[in-house]
Amino acid sequence: MSARPRVLITGAGGQVGRELIRSFADSAEVIAFGRNTLDLASPEQIRDKVREAAPDVILNAGAYTAVDRAESEPEMARAINTDAPRVLAEEALRAKALLVHYSTDYVFDGSKSGQWTEDDATGPLNVYGETKLAGEEAIRGVGGRYLIFRTSWVYGPHGKNFVFTMLRLGKERDSLNVVDDQIGAPTSSIELARATSTIADGILSGKFGADDWSGVYNMTCFGSVSWCGFARAIFERAPQLLEGKTPKVNAIPASAFPTPAKRPQNSVLSNEKLFQRFGVRLAPWESALDEVLAQIASPQA
Ligand SMILES: NC(=O)c1ccc[n+]([C@@H]2O[C@H](COP(=O)([O-])OP(=O)(O)OC[C@H]3O[C@@H](n4cnc5c(N)ncnc54)[C@H](OP(=O)(O)O)[C@@H]3O)[C@@H](O)[C@H]2O)c1
Repeated sequence: MSARPRVLITGAGGQVGRELIRSFADSAEVIAFGRNTLDLASPEQIRDKVREAAPDVILNAGAYTAVDRAESEPEMARAINTDAPRVLAEEALRAKALLVHYSTDYVFDGSKSGQWTEDDATGPLNVYGETKLAGEEAIRGVGGRYLIFRTSWVYGPHGKNFVFTMLRLGKERDSLNVVDDQIGAPTSSIELARATSTIADGILSGKFGADDWSGVYNMTCFGSVSWCGFARAIFERAPQLLEGKTPKVNAIPASAFPTPAKRPQNSVLSNEKLFQRFGVRLAPWESALDEVLAQIASPQA
């Protein structure tokens, strides 16, 4: 492909959407839509905007991500997490575009003791996970050229996430109780966008071959930790963001912190398939966290 590829991004105001815009800005013509310009709950809007943009790549960073609220709004979660990806896949097929979609560790029930592979049996514990899994199946059902990246515990320098919640509570309180019996891989939106851009560039340039790469891939930062360990790491690594406070983090079981949606105990994903196919590995979660904390401390334009 000689001209710069046209890359359409949905959910452009979200954590991953924002970083995708930054990552693709140099190599592509980016057409970015936030919720106010492309409502994923409207199949007509999706069709109109995609046809107008005629993209080479569609990056679907929009999603219904309110895990607990989804329990009481299953129809809305399904419209955005299942129906919208289906329509995007249909439009991608029509335009012969590559569709990149993000899914979640919450497609698994968390009962495995090792890392989850792409071939492991799914079994979501909550409505969010069910609707995201159905979104994967919808894309597979349409076919075409697609990549589904399952990621986990996403945070970044913008938006609502665990890191900002901990920094706020750390300034307000002397001690915090944080769940210690759920483990996963915190994954930075910056790392996700970088890996996505490397892989999409490779596909567009023909580096990864004709078309046998469509499928589901786990894509998380390297390593794993509990929410409690993650909170402690945030406080240890960012004392400058705590206004002189040194909050104590107490480990509690998930049973002591009931939430409307159940969450998996172990949702650590193996990234071997991603590495074998594309030669891409994301950074260890600790160094990715340092990068995000540095950007929070000195925001970029
Ligand atoms: N966050 C995580 O921990 C996590 C974990 C695993 C997988 N993922 C997946 O990773 C992807 C990116 O997530 P993220 O962390 O970037 O989430 P995010 O920050 O919540 O971003 C999602 C974006 O989608 C937008 N959106 C919601 N409803 C929409 C609609 N009807 N039409 C258009 N846009 C709409 C949101 O807009 P508003 O802000 O206006 O609602 C938001 O900008 C998603 O597919 C998510 O399922 C996330």
